[in-house]
Amino acid sequence: MYWEKKTFQAIKDHLLTALAENENYRRHPVLGLPASYLDADVFYNDAPFLKDRPFIRALVDNPNHIGCHTVSRSESAFAGTQAIERELIKLCAEQIFGGNPDEQDGYVASGGSESNIQALWIYRNYFMREHHAQLNEIGVFYSADTHYSIPKAGNLLLLQSFILPVEKWTREISQADLENTIQQARNQGVKYFIVVMNMATTMFGSVDDVNRVGKYLQSQNLNFKIHIDAAFGGFVYPFTNPDNVFSFQNPYITSFTLDAHKMLQAPYGTGIFLIRKGYMFYGSTKEAQYVQGGDYTVCGSRSGANVVAVWMILYTHGYEGWHYKMMQLLDRTSRLCAQLDEMEVKYYRNPFMNLVTIHSEFIPQKLAEKYYLVPDTHDRAPEWYKIVMMSHVSQGLVDSFVNDLEVFRSVGI
Ligand SMILES: Cc1ncc(COP(=O)(O)O)c(C=O)c1O
Repeated sequence: MYWEKKTFQAIKDHLLTALAENENYRRHPVLGLPASYLDADVFYNDAPFLKDRPFIRALVDNPNHIGCHTVSRSESAFAGTQAIERELIKLCAEQIFGGNPDEQDGYVASGGSESNIQALWIYRNYFMREHHAQLNEIGVFYSADTHYSIPKAGNLLLLQSFILPVEKWTREISQADLENTIQQARNQGVKYFIVVMNMATTMFGSVDDVNRVGKYLQSQNLNFKIHIDAAFGGFVYPFTNPDNVFSFQNPYITSFTLDAHKMLQAPYGTGIFLIRKGYMFYGSTKEAQYVQGGDYTVCGSRSGANVVAVWMILYTHGYEGWHYKMMQLLDRTSRLCAQLDEMEVKYYRNPFMNLVTIHSEFIPQKLAEKYYLVPDTHDRAPEWYKIVMMSHVSQGLVDSFVNDLEVFRSVGI
């Protein structure tokens, strides 16, 4: 059912063949593109290791993946690696997010922020074009724990934000707050609802109850679209929670953001935007006439090498390998939580996520600085500090943090 891991040889053969199918600035007469391989004085093309390193080869060749290759055939010069991007989007949409075959579009964006902006841009244009909505009739709804890229998108798109409060220890949006906020927006004339639900918030790793919210919006006969911000949780939660409801099989959900440059350890510039077919069109810029196939994205030009990197990581591990890796991080997180429980240290943690957010009253500043714990704010005294269980966070490192915390709890620092 899920994708199999590939050998390094198979990965290399597949990707080098794809790269060979792109136009080659050295061999082919390419006069019209404002693009070339990387500066050959610095990044020379004949380095012997390049023949065994598809990602570095892709960086040096420098394909531009402008456009959205699941929607239309784009710049023919980069057809080889565009096909790799289609494979990648298909894998993420269908095997991680349960989409039906060939019913989703998507692209590799610069990051989670761009993917979130792309989603809100598409829905704003959808409501304006299909329902003749005025800007002040469209509202963006999201929890107080939502990443700042959502208010940023609201600001760029001139959309009003409605912030749903969350309960301190559960980080949940209460039903009463949901209903009150929706009512308040309706009273202000909002008729179209763009709702962002988190599959793991930045600071807490909390996961919003998308079904409860979707059900309520539907019961009120509201015109809504739900976007899932899975920038952080997208490569974790679907692998750790067997009862995950965040998928394209869920009729409430239209799109997802996920970031390969977070948990997947891909290079920066690898946000992934996924959306049901039929919507990318609302991000089309008709003036992009010189771009073969047109452009549907916020960013325009983007690196094909990044696509190669993400594809390589997913096929190096396969589903089973990635699942195992995430379960290991989860175990390590649970072990840390058990130690915190023993010390009666208060924290928040979603049981399917690798993030622990400790109340600041238990963390002396010195310890926060020593272990680079990230506070919820740098503007005033923090209320929370987070620990993110990444690959480099070894059990030894966790133990040493716990030991230091124990010393502080018993004698102070
Ligand atoms: C939940 C969530 N959404 C969006 C983003 C933005 O991602 P990026 O920094 O890749 O733009 C982040 C980043 O931390 C995040 O945690």
